[in-house]
Amino acid sequence: MDESFSKIPNHVAIIVDGNGRWAKERGLARSRGHDAGFENLKRITKYIFSKNIKILSLYVFSTENFKRSKEEVDHLMNLFVKGFKMEAKTYQKENIKVVFSTSGSPLSSEIISLMKKIEEDTKNNTKGILNICINYGGRTEIVDATKKICQDVINNKLNLADLDEELYKKYLYQNLADVDLMIRTSGEKRLSNFLLYQNAYSEFYFPNVYFPDFDEKEFDKALIEYTKRDRRFGNAK
Ligand code: IPE
Ligand code: IPE
Ligand code: MG
Repeated sequence: MDESFSKIPNHVAIIVDGNGRWAKERGLARSRGHDAGFENLKRITKYIFSKNIKILSLYVFSTENFKRSKEEVDHLMNLFVKGFKMEAKTYQKENIKVVFSTSGSPLSSEIISLMKKIEEDTKNNTKGILNICINYGGRTEIVDATKKICQDVINNKLNLADLDEELYKKYLYQNLADVDLMIRTSGEKRLSNFLLYQNAYSEFYFPNVYFPDFDEKEFDKALIEYTKRDRRFGNAK
């Protein structure tokens, strides 16, 4: 194996950011940036799984993104519908299990039923897990988990004394391993409410490119940087 990729992260998370600025720099409408971002997303997802990464979480729409213009939100939602339909076969072919992390209601019934179908169709796939975070909010995920825990305690399904960090994960939208490498494109250096519980000890990487330009080479750079990081988890050096 190439020495530069000697440490492969198990779980990579990407905050897909900069589509709007990518378009603006080219004198295009923001929607064209989202189209370009979507094309890149298809390519890079395939590439990432080809690198033997087991879990990929993608932040494609936050709960807060509903604050954007109706035109932009509608465009993105149409893109998701089109994209999920188009990619469903690829997930099957590539043996990828797809799960969706969503914080409650404002998604259309069309998207919700499409998401359910893809989850059902891919549930036995084993090569990797693609966690698509759409209408997702990290704080809401924690609040939702806490509510489910309270319900289980009230219904005598859970003894509060048994609750610990590991068990808490079972109440999150997905019970996945922690994030190892968290990437945010576009130069912004913030989490914007993404996977707050799961990012506790991840390595952060902020490439200076907009998402439509985050190609295979850029991802390789992220992997090389990850290899150089010294993860201590609180231990002495
Ligand atoms: C990310 O690109 C896509 C979504 C949030 C859905 P942006 O639309 O946030 O692009 P910028 O940050 O305005 O450039
Ligand atoms: C975060 O990006 C959400 C997604 C990429 C889906 P934003 O562009 O919405 O985040 P802020 O507003 O710059 O923090
Ligand atoms: Mg943005």
